[in-house]
Amino acid sequence: MIGVQVSKIGITIFGSTGDLTYRKLMPALYNLFSRGLLKDNFDICAIGRRDYSNKDYTDIIRSWIEKFARLEVTEEKLLEFFDHINYLKMDFTKEEDFEVLNNYYKNNDIDNHLVYLAVSPTFFEEIAVGIEKTNCIKNPKIILEKPFGDSLENAAYLSKRLDSVFGKDNIYRIDHYLGKEMVRNILTIRTNNHMISNVWDKSSIDSIHISALETVGIDGRVSYYDETGALMDMVTNHLLQILTIVAMDDPLGNIHEQQYNVLKDLRPVEDVSKSMILGQYENYEVVGSDTETYAALKLFIDNDRWEDVPFFIRTGKKCDNREVEVAINFKRKFSDIDPDVLIIKVQPTEGVYLEFNIKTPGEESGVTRAKMEFCQSCDDIFRQNTPEAYERMILASLEGDDSWFSKWDQIELSWKFIEELKRKYKEANLPVYIYKAGSSGPKESNNLADTEDQRWRT
Ligand SMILES: NC(=O)c1ccc[n+]([C@@H]2O[C@H](COP(=O)([O-])OP(=O)(O)OC[C@H]3O[C@@H](n4cnc5c(N)ncnc54)[C@H](OP(=O)(O)O)[C@@H]3O)[C@@H](O)[C@H]2O)c1
Repeated sequence: MIGVQVSKIGITIFGSTGDLTYRKLMPALYNLFSRGLLKDNFDICAIGRRDYSNKDYTDIIRSWIEKFARLEVTEEKLLEFFDHINYLKMDFTKEEDFEVLNNYYKNNDIDNHLVYLAVSPTFFEEIAVGIEKTNCIKNPKIILEKPFGDSLENAAYLSKRLDSVFGKDNIYRIDHYLGKEMVRNILTIRTNNHMISNVWDKSSIDSIHISALETVGIDGRVSYYDETGALMDMVTNHLLQILTIVAMDDPLGNIHEQQYNVLKDLRPVEDVSKSMILGQYENYEVVGSDTETYAALKLFIDNDRWEDVPFFIRTGKKCDNREVEVAINFKRKFSDIDPDVLIIKVQPTEGVYLEFNIKTPGEESGVTRAKMEFCQSCDDIFRQNTPEAYERMILASLEGDDSWFSKWDQIELSWKFIEELKRKYKEANLPVYIYKAGSSGPKESNNLADTEDQRWRT
């Protein structure tokens, strides 16, 4: 617990006037403060280039905290929290402005640093150079937001560069999906239930489906999204992260090693037309662009546990449903009886759902589906007691626990795999299929499924 720290910790946020800081970071920090986990000896330095006073800045973040903080927001707590926040005007593309930061640290007697780069990766190197030249940061922990670069080559370069400035073990690459309650719960469910852990392999499981669907489009993020697309925005990171958690061999082992081993065993795709379908919603904002807003993939993991079990991954914008979930389809026991299904619901509902077979009530021979649902987020107490993903991840980084942060080798493998798929898709001249907004995506993605699973059908 960081409450025991003696020297002051400085939390510096580059990009403190951005969407991520307003919607996620400040509410998360407020929650941690409210829980008494930041104690008194901390300082938040909010860096921005706008001409704000401290009061201007805290007036802005007040409404975001009131809207997005998980815990009760009281005037008293807010004012106490604001006492720890200083807005610092600087342009981080100007080397001389880092002297302003250096002086700030000196004046505030800050010896330990958590630095959050809530900015585009195009600024990572400039910020690192500015910090290196002024040598203003001691005992650093640096949190990086995805995307970690704008291409694999550039991300690899940046990774090396930042490692050399800050030290490899001091870089925390965040994927907030790994802070989500139900993603963490996958490992607990796998580990602590005999009836689940014993069937978690190819002998009992027919297929696994990981979906992350949204009803919204790309809204104001047009230029970012048009360069990124669904594959890089969702699949390379969040969805492959979930896949590796679901598929890891030893749920009690070192998380990073286990995830890395799954990625290493992903079967290289031979026929891309049977492995991936890309789509774009009708009336996409950028006319003439072929950026995908939907991606469906069928992947295999070549190891003893999962040989020939298809993993279906899909993500899409402007779909008919908002959900992030993992569905485990078990093998059929009899050809005329539907198989058991276990669903781990990550978002917006958090919980576990099970469909299985029972005797039809009253009748002597019939079989009927039984559906059981545990809705964790429907319970007020559970919901209030569950930290948000960013709250969990920031606390872990403050405590120096990097077990749920990604290492570069893992990111590199994910990135290489998806870039290769994209290249093959393009070379095969496969289209980006247009789908109706409010639908479940392009119907062509049905072609990937040779299982009879209805969940996959669009
Ligand atoms: N938003 C999310 O939920 C989310 C989730 C995951 C990852 N990310 C990633 O996190 C990064 C930040 O996202 P965001 O949505 O917060 O972006 P954003 O809203 O565009 O914010 C970018 C921030 O950087 C600041 N900035 C840019 N150039 C600057 C300069 N020269 N000197 C000082 N400040 C400068 C901006 O200041 P101004 O206000 O003055 O422009 C703003 O505070 C992006 O790489 C994004 O892909 C975001």
